[in-house]
Amino acid sequence: DVDHLVDMFGRVARDLRVSITEKCSLRCTYCMPEEGLPAIPPQNLLTAEEIIRLVGIAVDRLGVCEVRFTGGEPLMRADLETIIAGCAERVPGVPLAMTTNAVGLEHRAQKLADAGLTRVNVSLDSVDRAHFAELTRRDRLPSVLAGIRAAAAAGLAPMKINAVLMPETLSGAVDLLQWCIDEGVALRFIEEMPLDADREWSGGSMVPARQLLDVLGRRFGLREIGREDPSAPAEEWLIDGGPATVGIIASVTRSFCADCDRTRLTSEGTVRSCLFSDQEVDLRAALRSGADDEELAQLWRGAMWNKWAGHGINVDGFTPPQRSMGAIGG
Ligand code: GTP
Ligand code: 5AD
Ligand code: SF4
Repeated sequence: DVDHLVDMFGRVARDLRVSITEKCSLRCTYCMPEEGLPAIPPQNLLTAEEIIRLVGIAVDRLGVCEVRFTGGEPLMRADLETIIAGCAERVPGVPLAMTTNAVGLEHRAQKLADAGLTRVNVSLDSVDRAHFAELTRRDRLPSVLAGIRAAAAAGLAPMKINAVLMPETLSGAVDLLQWCIDEGVALRFIEEMPLDADREWSGGSMVPARQLLDVLGRRFGLREIGREDPSAPAEEWLIDGGPATVGIIASVTRSFCADCDRTRLTSEGTVRSCLFSDQEVDLRAALRSGADDEELAQLWRGAMWNKWAGHGINVDGFTPPQRSMGAIGG
């Protein structure tokens, strides 16, 4: 029987994001420190079997209807194909998506599609090689572009590109959008949130959606068409009369927390009710000490009931959470 993940504000979480590793092949400044995140001891990471079991519980007992794998970078796990195949078998018909930087995806896209992965969102901030290397601290643009094309060829669609808005990315925004239009993939720009490991975010220096619209508006005709559905993070804009669109995820200046439908599982097996809340509930300990499916489901419901109203970034006294984006998974 399904008993949904509801919170005290009446929101229902049906979209599960599962972070499966803190490791990454890139070092984007808004997410990861130069040296990477401290390694999680292997025994603290959920195994493939444990992830598959928890995904099954989320779907069967909690009414989750879409699952997305994130990291760090999910491709850093050698058993990703096993995880996907196990979930596809355990929860047939439920869309299984992944958010990835696409480094090395070229060689795994077809295997992942065969295992049951439905679609991918790819993080890409610039299509200029030198600029990409500077933003990510790694010279891997060719691998990313090959990964994007391989994913399209494997039918992992519809694909979306995510670009975090930074002062350094603004000048290349028009080129990135033109590239996405030419490739036939959707692009969404994301306002930077205070989730960088280096704690350098400041409201004064972040690029607001408004500023991006000014830049894009000088080159393209833009018309607002709203959200795909009420809980979608992006607001869509039609470009030059269509059919191409561009999305903007304005988490900071136009927060959508009131319509949030997300629940998160960390790679260490804790439930996180919000990107910004460190009040995590440990499922791993319960699972490893023999809890049955309903006991785990009940712990999960309790974790979500206490979800905050919103991220509070614009409220006095806001402090960023302990986990940075690399350890939450976006
Ligand atoms: P689709 O189902 O394809 O729309 O995916 P998605 O947008 O839910 O997932 P993706 O991993 O591509 O997320 C893109 C970005 O949206 C993330 O990096 C975050 O910046 C933002 N985002 C996703 N979920 C949340 C959320 O719950 N709160 C906030 N504030 N931002 C979120
Ligand atoms: N603010 C907003 N989005 C971020 N991402 C990573 N760090 C941040 C941040 N500080 C995005 C990445 C990726 C997704 C998982 O999260 O670009 O697309
Ligand atoms: Fe890696 Fe993604 Fe973070 Fe960039 S944003 S460092 S690709 S996890």
